[in-house]
Amino acid sequence: MAEVIILPDSQAAGELVASTLMEQIRNKPEFVLGVATGSTPKSTYRALERQAKQAELALDHLSVFALDEYVGLDPQHPQSYRAEIYREVVLPLGLDPARVHVPDGHAEDVAHAGSAFESALATAGGIDTQILGLGRTGHIGFNEPGSSLASRTRIKTLTEETRQDNARFFDSIDEVPTHCLTQGLGTIMEAKHIVLLAFGAEKARPLAASLEGPISARVPGSVLQWHPHVSVVIDEAAAADLDYADYYRHAWANKPTWQGL
Ligand code: F6R
Repeated sequence: MAEVIILPDSQAAGELVASTLMEQIRNKPEFVLGVATGSTPKSTYRALERQAKQAELALDHLSVFALDEYVGLDPQHPQSYRAEIYREVVLPLGLDPARVHVPDGHAEDVAHAGSAFESALATAGGIDTQILGLGRTGHIGFNEPGSSLASRTRIKTLTEETRQDNARFFDSIDEVPTHCLTQGLGTIMEAKHIVLLAFGAEKARPLAASLEGPISARVPGSVLQWHPHVSVVIDEAAAADLDYADYYRHAWANKPTWQGL
């Protein structure tokens, strides 16, 4: 079972995840970090920026791989995931742009952009730690319900629910792309360590279904139950529907101090 850590808020979660990443990067400067976009991981990126500055830890040997990208959106568009990763991660953390990889949703040959991304990932030696958010549909990356549990990076159609959720970042829903290029569930599952973050009441249902429900393509996040090293870091609101919340609290409170995430 994944380790589930219930904290008061997203700030506390960000600090905990960032301190784990700091330790991992110190041990391996050429660390490969898988990054999610959206609201959820922002507190982790801000905490990592602050902790790295405070410790004077240079992050210029770090490689990052994004989870997904919209298809057909100009990479210069402020809501493209390439632009967001630069704004939220690459520039504030002082990363080397040559070590930043985002699926190319604007490629001339977009049908082959998924395999090009997979090759770059294999060349880098795979992801050490993958940060994930969770969609209301239960998606991780943009693997919407019905995604193959063994899927690789490919084009997917976004659900209307996801387009509506993401419309808050655009002027209107009509501007939200209909398709994306996303790491597959099989791709995500190859990361050595996965950190799933979820905050707020709207994540309670998909989180409980992912962690405690049956493993099913209906709830793509449920595939994580097969992964041997998943840390789930959430707030109280997101924990509301978990049957085993008290057990998770007990296990975290009694975890040996020498064990990290
Ligand atoms: C983003 C991604 C998505 C989001 C999810 C939650 O790269 O792959 O799975 O993590 O849609 O989005 P937020 O964090 O905005 O609630």
